[in-house]
Amino acid sequence: MTKIYGNKKRRTYTALQDIHLEVEEGDFVGIMGPSGSGKTTLLNILATIDKPTAGHVFINNINPVTLSDHKLAAFRRHALGYVFQDFNLLDTLTIKENIILPLALERVSSREIEERVREMASWLGIANILDKRTYEVSGGQMQRTAIARAMIHRPSLLLADELTGNLDSKAAKDVMQALSDMNEEQQRTILIVTHDPFAASYCKRVIFIKDGKLFTEIRRGGNRQAFFQKILDTLSLLGGSFDDLSSARH
Ligand SMILES: Nc1ncnc2c1ncn2[C@@H]1O[C@H](COP(=O)(O)OP(=O)(O)OP(=O)(O)O)[C@@H](O)[C@H]1O
Ligand SMILES: [Mg+2]
Repeated sequence: MTKIYGNKKRRTYTALQDIHLEVEEGDFVGIMGPSGSGKTTLLNILATIDKPTAGHVFINNINPVTLSDHKLAAFRRHALGYVFQDFNLLDTLTIKENIILPLALERVSSREIEERVREMASWLGIANILDKRTYEVSGGQMQRTAIARAMIHRPSLLLADELTGNLDSKAAKDVMQALSDMNEEQQRTILIVTHDPFAASYCKRVIFIKDGKLFTEIRRGGNRQAFFQKILDTLSLLGGSFDDLSSARH
């Protein structure tokens, strides 16, 4: 697909050009690239918030562009989960209430809800804070709550943009470990955009984009530390500015 910002009369900027990407069920993909390379544009198109100018996206064999607004809203609710950099939790609700919010619109029994919350919370290590309010928990716990909320309806694809951007290194590690566990043990399909090579090292593969085009792709194999180094090496090939702090984390 290709994404050109602007309108038919005045095309302003080619943000993505001829991107070909396939994500299999159970994959865990990281997208990296310099600022302005098109990462958020790509994510917004996958999240069906934006549309490609040319080419198509299929999610579960459905092209979201062909759906009516009503069907698209339902499709988004069922097929996709989204995690934001700034958590986006409601601070008038408890952690548990935040997590089950997406199920409010669904016909799910309260017993089933309880079960899902318990399962999610234990995967994410937040079982002991379910009754707290958002201002009583840490940033890492808030982000793990946001992940639980994004996955409670069991989406086909979890999308996240800079989900560790507001976290310190310990919290980022806990969040990435939790995602990695859910990917490995429950075959959850995950795609994240990140500036952070440490966060990216938890993915199974990392795709690098530059100036809206695919630059290269690397795969993890067994060793996360070695993958972290490979990511740093690829970033230095890629050029542009990256968060140097995170290189101290591994
Ligand atoms: N609505 C828009 N109209 C015109 N140009 C846009 C629009 N949104 C983004 N762009 C441009 O498209 C390019 C890609 O933007 P995008 O937000 O996808 O980058 P990014 O890789 O996510 O960057 P960052 O790492 O800084 O978040 C940038 O040059 C940006 O200025
Ligand atoms: Mg961005």
